[in-house]
Amino acid sequence: MDEIKRIRELRALLEQLSYEYYVLDHPSRSDQEYDRYMQELIALEEKHPEEYDPNSPTQRVGGAVLDGFEKVEHKRMMLSLGNVFNYEELAAFDERVRASESQVRYVVELKIDGLAMSLIYQDGNFVQAVTRGDGNIGEDVTNNIKTIQSIPMHIDLMGEVEVRGEVYMPKASFRRLNSEREANGEELFANPRNAAAGSVRQLDSSICAKRGLDAFWYYFVNAQEYGIHSQEEALETMSQMHLRVNPLRRCCDTVDEIWQFIQEISEQRHDLPYEIDGIVIKVDDLNAWTRLGTTVKVPRWATAYKFPAEEVKTRLLDIVLSVGRTGRITPNAVLEPVRVAGTTVSAAQLHNEDMIKEKDIRIHDIVIVRKAGDIIPEVVGPDIERRDGSQQPYVFPSTCPICGGHLLRLPQEAAHYCINQDCPARVVESIIHFASRDAMDIDTLGDKRVEQLHEWGMLDSIEDIYRLKEHRQELLAKEGYQAKSVQKLLDAIEKSKENPLEDLLFGLGIRQVGKKAARILAKQFLSMDALMAADEEQLTMIRDIGEITAKSIVAFFAEEKNQHMIDQLRSFGLRMDSEKEEIKESIFTNKTIVLTGTLSYYTRNEAKAILLSLGANVAGSVSKKTDLVIYGENAGSKLTKAQELGVEMMNEEAFVQEVKAYESQ
Ligand code: IVH
Repeated sequence: MDEIKRIRELRALLEQLSYEYYVLDHPSRSDQEYDRYMQELIALEEKHPEEYDPNSPTQRVGGAVLDGFEKVEHKRMMLSLGNVFNYEELAAFDERVRASESQVRYVVELKIDGLAMSLIYQDGNFVQAVTRGDGNIGEDVTNNIKTIQSIPMHIDLMGEVEVRGEVYMPKASFRRLNSEREANGEELFANPRNAAAGSVRQLDSSICAKRGLDAFWYYFVNAQEYGIHSQEEALETMSQMHLRVNPLRRCCDTVDEIWQFIQEISEQRHDLPYEIDGIVIKVDDLNAWTRLGTTVKVPRWATAYKFPAEEVKTRLLDIVLSVGRTGRITPNAVLEPVRVAGTTVSAAQLHNEDMIKEKDIRIHDIVIVRKAGDIIPEVVGPDIERRDGSQQPYVFPSTCPICGGHLLRLPQEAAHYCINQDCPARVVESIIHFASRDAMDIDTLGDKRVEQLHEWGMLDSIEDIYRLKEHRQELLAKEGYQAKSVQKLLDAIEKSKENPLEDLLFGLGIRQVGKKAARILAKQFLSMDALMAADEEQLTMIRDIGEITAKSIVAFFAEEKNQHMIDQLRSFGLRMDSEKEEIKESIFTNKTIVLTGTLSYYTRNEAKAILLSLGANVAGSVSKKTDLVIYGENAGSKLTKAQELGVEMMNEEAFVQEVKAYESQ
């Protein structure tokens, strides 16, 4: 079969399968089949770079890294919504509508808690996604939004179509993201909305692609141009265009019917897989929208009923500090246990000194507690009227609650740090991290065990893990340590020595070095010694390793204590090198390649690093020995010379395709 025809066929097929999977939640083919078609398409597109299409299913994994987002003016202002908080206010809204409209019917929808987004399709093709911004000017986040798999890249309508809706992070994605961040010692997102907004603002779209975002579409902006007369019809049409439209909605004729729907949804909302913060009530008739018009900021034809955030009061018994493995201090509220939004809460993070000061939270205050995004408990603030004079302003301690060492707050940071490297809390946390699943995976050495062994004086450092066998007899004498479980623990420790270098690197807990960076470093340097010898410049040359990470790595290995730890670990027989990955044959292997012009997808250094990793030699100037010239925008004399010498040439787009196809092998 004609390969070009096959490319088109595969694109249509993959788009249909994504629709079934991500929108209908009802796939007709297995994941394996989908992957097979995808691989076939990748291979064919690689063979036919002239068929490149930014909206191909192969282009939805992200990868483009931007310097910033372009500002875009909305053709039609992106409005917000007015609010009502109770039945009376809702009835007043209805009365205002009925004052100028005789026959009124409403469409009542869920108010998704995410961020508003506008999508533009031109002659059936997705062309742009823009955030609301200030309503007039938003930001072009097309690359990031394209990674949301449920959004169709093609619709069956010609002309320019604008639809708006909400991009959000499902509760499950939010939980997964925060637990990964916790494991990497990164700051947690307070709620799914912040996490969604943070993801859409990523300049590297491959990060956004991994965040598990989704979207619902609720507004067909220029519906009337397509002969559509009602909101319900507009929602139906969007649905037919394969846009994901929330099925939980109802047509209502009276305030009582709307109120009934609000009650029903209030009951179910905690069971929904995404957050909602209210209900949106819209007049159904689109002609009435024009007649009713808008105020400066909000339409007169719609309003939002906002759920009251469930807030409860309880006593703040104490504020205690915890110390993370980096020494970072987190103040925690100890609360008299109280039920809120479905669970009992007895603790909440207070984040930092400034937050406690700003809210003027004092020990023994009666405080208002709620769940941010209905998941993470937070202290809203004190009930000042219930103070009895026993509450004193909170003074942030200047010493570590665990080791008594000095706490340091850097000028531009909100957090305090315990700077004592030997602080027992830091030591325990770093050992727990070292043994954790994503690091050395010593699964019999969990949090509680580490704390216990530390208390007994058997674990004072990471190295001590490998000396535990010297304490076998002592351990056997302890309660809960039968011969079998001690043997299991020691075996697991012994086995961990064989772990790959990347696990060890992650386990060391170098700031900024998460799982991914550890993998890249191990792959690039192949040995601990080579990594330890690397300077900042060499490190920043590596794709995905930024300046801050490079600085942190150099600082870590410059410390004598850390060098000593590595020596010790080496003497215990831990693996300190990685096997060189066999260079897979690529079209670049063993070729002498010259890069020229301005590359927009990779930086020059990244492109160079990629070529080197694919077994190519990268040269600075074109000569008879050059096998290939890869060129970007505004390529000058090198390209001319290559043409003169008849050297093979490849543009950046084809190069990127080639690398991608290779990486996905
Ligand atoms: S209609 C001109 N419908 O809530 C009216 N908005 O607080 C356009 N939202 O800016 C909005 N779910 O970001 C509408 N079903 C829904 C919604 C919804 C969530 C958001 C939207 C809006 C904000 C107002």
